Amino acid sequence: MNAPSGLPAPPPTGVSALPSGTFEGNTVFVTGGGTGLGKAIAGEFARLGANIVIASRNSDHLAKGANELREIGGTVLPLELDIREPESVATAFDEATRHVGLPHILINNAAANFPVPAEDMSPNAWRTVVDITLNGTFYCAREFARRHLSAWTTASILNIGASYAWTGGPGFAHSAAAKAGVKNMVETLAVEWAPYGIQINGLVPGLFPHEDMTEDITENLDRTHDKDASQPALRVGQRQELGWAATFLCSPYARFISGHTLVVDGANWQRRTLTNPPVVTVRDQMGKPPFGKEMKG
Ligand code: COA
Repeated sequence: MNAPSGLPAPPPTGVSALPSGTFEGNTVFVTGGGTGLGKAIAGEFARLGANIVIASRNSDHLAKGANELREIGGTVLPLELDIREPESVATAFDEATRHVGLPHILINNAAANFPVPAEDMSPNAWRTVVDITLNGTFYCAREFARRHLSAWTTASILNIGASYAWTGGPGFAHSAAAKAGVKNMVETLAVEWAPYGIQINGLVPGLFPHEDMTEDITENLDRTHDKDASQPALRVGQRQELGWAATFLCSPYARFISGHTLVVDGANWQRRTLTNPPVVTVRDQMGKPPFGKEMKG
């Protein structure tokens, strides 16, 4: 009998799903676009002719990301930005507009995350992640939309989400709550702004391992020995698959799609087992001693 082989591999990076030049003359503003999945998404827009603005707190990420994106083509403008600061968000859009015109598309990709049992999470850790992931996303969406509302121009927004927005995320209470807000925001803003020609959707990546994952997240992920075998698709995602979904949702071919959040994860978030394996606490999964033990020595 044949063994299951999972979902087929996609076409390689460099192939585009949309007609060449789909985003010619458009500018795409990608927060956190200097690394990881944000950079991969920016790259797919660049391949289809867009000018790219990448915004990040980290100047090294910006310089490296901008160089890599320029190799794909088009203009790439790196901007330093902490999305927690609404005034800095406004300044960044001013800068982008001065250099490449008012961006047509906003990809709200920047987020903060680290695994931590909820009982160990400091109020400042909670606040920091919610501030970046939820508040920062709103500040960027608001600033971008206000400019289009004033100019009477149409636009697209894509919020990068996470499937624990629906399911909860043990070990990630801060990020899961923030991403639930990000998803909910998609639904509200889609209705508020559709009359003015602004669409907004969400895009949720599954497991797309990449070299820019934080040490914290990689360490926990590395406890899964075979990452492909742990997915219903029997493989992890390839970054171009996420980029194709992002470009489609912001393209002229998806103008009637708004308020939707698309999960690209080979059905992993819906995985349920027939048998119930024993529960392993978050502390045990992270190799942490029982709560309070550290303090008692
Ligand atoms: N475990 C527990 N608490 C942590 C933590 C971790 N791994 N990392 C940060 N914190 C806590 C800090 O201790 C601090 O709380 P405290 O003041 O009570 O000690 C709080 O979170 C804020 O951390 P700080 O480093 O001061 O904030 P920052 O604004 O400089 O950066 C992050 C916060 C989360 C953005 C930072 O950890 C980071 O740069 N992470 C990598 C980027 C990232 O998260 N990418 C997202 C991948 S999805």
